[in-house]
Amino acid sequence: MLRFDVLTLFPDMISPVLGQSILKRAQEKGLLDVRVHNLRDFTEDRHKTADDLPYGGGAGMVMKAEPIFRAIDALTEETQADGDEMRLLFPTPHGRPFSQDYARRLAEERRRMVILCGHYEGVDERVRTALSPEEVSVGDYVLTGGELPALILIDAAARLVPGVLGDPDSLIEESFSDSLLEYPHYTRPVEVRGLGVPEVLLSGHHEVIRLWRRKQALCSTYLRRPDLLRDRVLTSEDRRLLDELISEGVSTVSMRSGEEG
Ligand code: ADE
Repeated sequence: MLRFDVLTLFPDMISPVLGQSILKRAQEKGLLDVRVHNLRDFTEDRHKTADDLPYGGGAGMVMKAEPIFRAIDALTEETQADGDEMRLLFPTPHGRPFSQDYARRLAEERRRMVILCGHYEGVDERVRTALSPEEVSVGDYVLTGGELPALILIDAAARLVPGVLGDPDSLIEESFSDSLLEYPHYTRPVEVRGLGVPEVLLSGHHEVIRLWRRKQALCSTYLRRPDLLRDRVLTSEDRRLLDELISEGVSTVSMRSGEEG
């Protein structure tokens, strides 16, 4: 059972997402347990003040340290009473880059993972000083808070827990599990707005289809993310398919233009 506790000032940015689709089912199946805690419930005054002006002046508000400490204290106590251990994660653009490997390690974590969502201009530095959380970034851009990153960590980890996705094959085949991008998918009807389905997929020849998909995955990776191929030890089949692609004249020049990245 993967266990997360999310500390946030905006529980409604988290809970509705957890109540949908695969994450909802994972919780119903007892494979995932996510509890969302409102930091405002750990404030000390009757106005439930969770943020305040920055010392030294400047724009924006700073999240107060004490409600966070109190929430962590409560969780620590609960965790110890259950004989468990805790791992504290703190989404921030300064953190270690999140990746599929990182997600894999979270998926194997037996400790309770607490995700502290920062907001506003920042969090009182004494939280980091005292708690030394594990800082993690979901990308080189700045979001309004840690809630979306928290969902990214939970989602990416949960889907790697055996049984969360219906079909175990989908985990083995899929994008990034062996560092290749996905091959293209098609479903009915056979023609949509004048666009057809590659003939090979209608052929029923499983081996030919497997090779076509593998070649498409290699092609997509070669064009879009050559860095993923660079340090890879290729199987002889992959080598042959890549050589075919190259001799067919696939080059980065043929990438669609006008897209970001
Ligand atoms: N909080 C704001 N931006 C973030 C990012 N890119 N990653 C993690 N946490 C964040």
